[in-house]
Amino acid sequence: MTSQPGDSPARVAASEPAAIEWERKPKTIDANLKDYDAAYKGFDWKSVEREFDWSKTGKVNVVHEAVDRHAASPRKDKLALAFTDFAGRDERCTFQDLKRLTSRFAHALRQLGVKKGDRVGTFLPRTPELYIAILSINRIGAIPVPLFEAFMEQAVEDRLGDSEAVACVTSPALKGRIPLKKLPKLKRLILVGASGALAPNEASYEQATANAPDWVEPEWLTVDDGLVIHYTSGSTGKSKGALHRQYAMVGHYQTSKWALDLRDDDVYWCTADPGWVTGTSYGIYGPWTLGISSVVIGGRFDPDRWYETIQRYKVTMWYSAPTAYRMLMSAGEAIPKKYDLKSLRHICSVGEPLNPEALKWVKKITGLAPHETWWMTETGMQLICNYRSKDFPIGCTGKPFPGTYATVVNDQGRELPPGELGHLVVKPGWPSMMKEIWRNPVKYQEYFRIPGWYVSGDSAYRDEQGYLWYQGRADDVIKTAGERVGPFEVESALVAHPAVAEAGVIGKPDPVRGHIIKAFVSLRKGHQPSEQLKQDIADFVKNNLAAHAAPREIAFVDKVPKTRSGKIMRRVLRAWDLGQPVGDISTMEE
Ligand code: WT7
Repeated sequence: MTSQPGDSPARVAASEPAAIEWERKPKTIDANLKDYDAAYKGFDWKSVEREFDWSKTGKVNVVHEAVDRHAASPRKDKLALAFTDFAGRDERCTFQDLKRLTSRFAHALRQLGVKKGDRVGTFLPRTPELYIAILSINRIGAIPVPLFEAFMEQAVEDRLGDSEAVACVTSPALKGRIPLKKLPKLKRLILVGASGALAPNEASYEQATANAPDWVEPEWLTVDDGLVIHYTSGSTGKSKGALHRQYAMVGHYQTSKWALDLRDDDVYWCTADPGWVTGTSYGIYGPWTLGISSVVIGGRFDPDRWYETIQRYKVTMWYSAPTAYRMLMSAGEAIPKKYDLKSLRHICSVGEPLNPEALKWVKKITGLAPHETWWMTETGMQLICNYRSKDFPIGCTGKPFPGTYATVVNDQGRELPPGELGHLVVKPGWPSMMKEIWRNPVKYQEYFRIPGWYVSGDSAYRDEQGYLWYQGRADDVIKTAGERVGPFEVESALVAHPAVAEAGVIGKPDPVRGHIIKAFVSLRKGHQPSEQLKQDIADFVKNNLAAHAAPREIAFVDKVPKTRSGKIMRRVLRAWDLGQPVGDISTMEE
């Protein structure tokens, strides 16, 4: 949001060479990726394919690689998942347990008529059943569509409707947000923790798995078959489903090894919910294809619980997000001092740029600087990272992962010299590139609008050393608390409110959340601006879409600025917000 490639051939950051603030990392000689430059030159994805059983058998299913093969190896009694909700539920599950649990539920899904290729929603709080459900859906070759627990009716309808899901695994508390009447394809709800009578279209997870077999052979697939669909927001239209292929596991595996630096004795904590891509690529597929022990916690964010998690499970590798680090930072230094965080040996960050203050603060309390990983829902895997064996300038986004090529180009697709701001693009063909935008080839093509490149929508520049520096979104997508929110979706939710005539939405910079959502709203005749009405409008979005998509600030305006063709001029809204000149408004309607 800070810069617009194409606006001007800006030169950036020439004045301020970022200081490398740490001593050379002496203990990192044991990193999995020891020599980035050598790996970058000599790397071949074929060598990673050989790590998977399917490279020998030709029989592909991620659940075999992530669960069954470990259950048939000395890792069978190794901890796969440790879970606590800090409210009485405390569980541990081995790879062998995971094999049994995901077989049982796979059997239940088949009994309920779910078949290979079908889409199945998961709409659950973060519990072991969510992880089991996703892998069980994979086991029968169906495609999970993970939904974030906080989604309200409109968001749920959009995603289950677009994916034409035939079933959804949910809970009695959440099922009321699934508008069955508007979802004709959705035949089945499977309820975790149901008590009492079930409707004819409902099944109980516990009953359906009670007498199921402990072993169900995976549905054998090809590397091109579906793995997962994640919905994500763009700058226009409803959210779109990024479909990933089974082959994506090749990317998840290798990045988990080289960027997350996971190794066999790690206790790994990915704080992301599987409703977002980080929670599947790096909460399920990456770590478990490597046979790593993972920690998952339920419940709301709470600084004490977070530090306690590290202490209690002796977490060694921690993957989280800038907004979380900033929230921990704002909770103060007294809290981490109460806990033993010395088990940690590596930390990574994703979702938005990690500001230097937050990086330094994490380093202060843990002794370790978080390492950036840049990627997107659509890219499926980390693509630009800082690596454990290599010092990096604070604030940079990193270097392309071996076997991938990311760079900065102008509107014509020509690579720009160091220091020039342009589009952050990637050469297509990395292992986990989305296969399609679910049934929307037009949207898919938009990612390749600069010939020869996947266009991320971010702007960036490259420095003389080859580091890439993220500089902001080039489109109107808002990153709030690390989550991507499309302004159009929020505007659509706003204009459904009876008092709202028109609405325009932007991201407003915020020290903790990165950006907050700010709405400019014009009212229908007969409605008067008031604080009460602001609250009412914000609640309306919260209750229909999702809490994180609700505007935290609302400004009433007489008219929302639009072009003559009716497009909202968010650039003008941003200028209004900052009290800056609005620039060229010759295309604005009268
Ligand atoms: C957008 C993608 C993929 C997991 C989480 C986000 C921003 C992501 C970084 C980073 C600066 C980042 C970009 C990107 N982003 N990681 N390390 N530094 N910006 O996935 O919700 O699909 O969002 O997040 O703007 O395009 P997503």
